[in-house]
Amino acid sequence: MSALLELDGIAIHYGGNIVLSGLALTVGSGEIVGLLGPNGSGKSTVLNAVTGFAPLASGEIRFDGQRIDRFSPQRIAQLGIRRTFQLPSMPARMSVLELTMAASSERHGIGAALLRGPAMRALEQKTRDRARALLDELKLAAVAHLPAASISGGQKKLLGIACAMMTEPKLLLLDEPTAGVHPNLRGELVAELRRIHRLGVTLMVIEHDMHFIRELCDRCVVLDRGAAIANCKPAELERNRRVLDAYLGRAHGRRSLEAS
Ligand SMILES: Nc1ncnc2c1ncn2[C@@H]1O[C@H](COP(=O)(O)OP(=O)(O)O)[C@@H](O)[C@H]1O
Ligand SMILES: [Mg+2]
Repeated sequence: MSALLELDGIAIHYGGNIVLSGLALTVGSGEIVGLLGPNGSGKSTVLNAVTGFAPLASGEIRFDGQRIDRFSPQRIAQLGIRRTFQLPSMPARMSVLELTMAASSERHGIGAALLRGPAMRALEQKTRDRARALLDELKLAAVAHLPAASISGGQKKLLGIACAMMTEPKLLLLDEPTAGVHPNLRGELVAELRRIHRLGVTLMVIEHDMHFIRELCDRCVVLDRGAAIANCKPAELERNRRVLDAYLGRAHGRRSLEAS
């Protein structure tokens, strides 16, 4: 399997605070990789770094063999890297459907702005159809007309996935996709991410739900204080002493891993 995303010894500092220190991590093309670790271990910062929002103090990030760590966020997005957010914020004035449709304009870019008349209408219809199909798959059809800001936290998570998928990404980075999502929807969310994966999208998923991780991920990388302490299959996590110690606290061990 060829490497799609490579983080090579990346460091990120905020003031005197070392958030990532020499982190190395590879995601193979077509893989589903889980990114785990205690709160504050640097998981979301990894996504910020990959998407161009957190400048590196040192190290390199490569996508499809090309170095991207000095690229602007827009240029990185155009290469086909998209993310969802841990706590998504949505505009108050746009409906769920409008927001989903607007996400695709990032992909069509200037080309779409030059279209006129029937060509413009055809593109709009195609975009609308695709947005509706995605909202349907993500169980958001019933709220498509509501203001995006008014839906539940869990629904916003799903909407974030719909918006990311409108751009047809190669790599989708998900920040705690199940947090706040109703437990009944989690199974469907796994199924949806599998479907996205079958379309050829490589996934990296930050997640605490071990059941979800076991069902979805080929491999897991565990962070502790900004460095990787494990890189293994989900089933091996429970036997990994470093993971139990760091992620879960020495006193709680295996019980916490199951509960988290
Ligand atoms: N923009 C920022 N400025 C200053 N500190 C930050 C910033 N972003 C993250 N941090 C710090 O970096 C550490 C890791 O944060 P984060 O990546 O959000 O962790 P996680 O997602 O694993 O919970 C935390 O201590 C956090 O306070
Ligand atoms: Mg986070």
